[in-house]
Amino acid sequence: MTEPQAKPIVRTLPDAQTVTEVRHWTDRLFSFRCTRPQSLRFRSGEFVMIGLMGETGKPLLRAYSIASPNWDEELEFYSIKVPDGPLTARLQHIQPGDEIILRPKPVGTLVLDALLPGKRLWMLATGTGIAPFASLIRDPETYEKFYQVVLMHTCRESAELEYGRQLVAALRDDPLIGEMVEGKLHYYPTTTREPSERMGRVTDNLASGKVFEDLGLAGPMDPAHDRAMICGSLAFNIDVKAILEGWGLNEGANSDPQEYVVEKAFVGDGI
Ligand code: FAD
Ligand code: A2P
Repeated sequence: MTEPQAKPIVRTLPDAQTVTEVRHWTDRLFSFRCTRPQSLRFRSGEFVMIGLMGETGKPLLRAYSIASPNWDEELEFYSIKVPDGPLTARLQHIQPGDEIILRPKPVGTLVLDALLPGKRLWMLATGTGIAPFASLIRDPETYEKFYQVVLMHTCRESAELEYGRQLVAALRDDPLIGEMVEGKLHYYPTTTREPSERMGRVTDNLASGKVFEDLGLAGPMDPAHDRAMICGSLAFNIDVKAILEGWGLNEGANSDPQEYVVEKAFVGDGI
């Protein structure tokens, strides 16, 4: 008697990957996992182009940060649902077993290599800008390179923070990484338009010193020891950059590591 064989995955699209799990967080946010091409190597924090086949037979692709760490066998993405968005109006309906297109060419500046060595790493995000940090906070290299890691994530409402909340909680309970994260990872979620335990914009909580006070950390940032990564809307990125530059931190890139790096979480209307 031969064992029944698992049904082989048949893929019909070039660069296709198969969706394995989908979770809806709010009516505007969802996350999903898919198979990972065997040859895909990436640095935690990088993004790739993913999408669906368009109606004209041409792939409809958009930039997406890989939210999973580089050791994960699968890939995870965290996505907005734009009601009339060419891609996400359709992508939000994917189900396990469906195919998505993934161009296996990871790029991006939110990587540890683009920062000079330091002691404390700040991850500053709004909205889906948490995605690259969802990867980096699950990467042991982050904790090997930094003594302290602070993740500040701000959304309008509490429900929009849930993906990050559950991620951090799972990380603390993880038998392998939990120990590494213990005492090192400071998570600082805030809302701006709904009362919650902690409130206020990332910019205000940095500039006023509130986040340092609340977490019992020395402030403000010191270019000798502090490193930062920024990922949010263009307006957010500009305002955070101004604060960091005021504290003497300079913007870095893959080719020129410095004290902070920045990437847009999305390209806004008319920008
Ligand atoms: P689009 O035509 O692309 O966008 C329509 C409008 O929706 C935009 O003009 C903007 O106003 C708004 N919008 C688009 N994306 C967002 C967003 N993420 N948050 C708030 N408003 C938005 N999106 C993700 O959801 N997750 C990611 O991890 C992610 N990573 C990105 C990384 C980079 C480097 C860049 C440049 C963009 C990233 N995006 C991400 C945005 C993504 O590429 C698409 O814009 C998004 O999926 C919507 O696609 P769409 O075709 O439905 O609408
Ligand atoms: P606020 O509610 O005070 O505008 P959005 O949903 O508009 O993309 O915003 C996501 C989060 O980012 C909101 O909490 C919003 O705060 C905050 N935010 C928007 N613009 C900025 C900015 N320029 N600086 C700091 N925080 C910002």
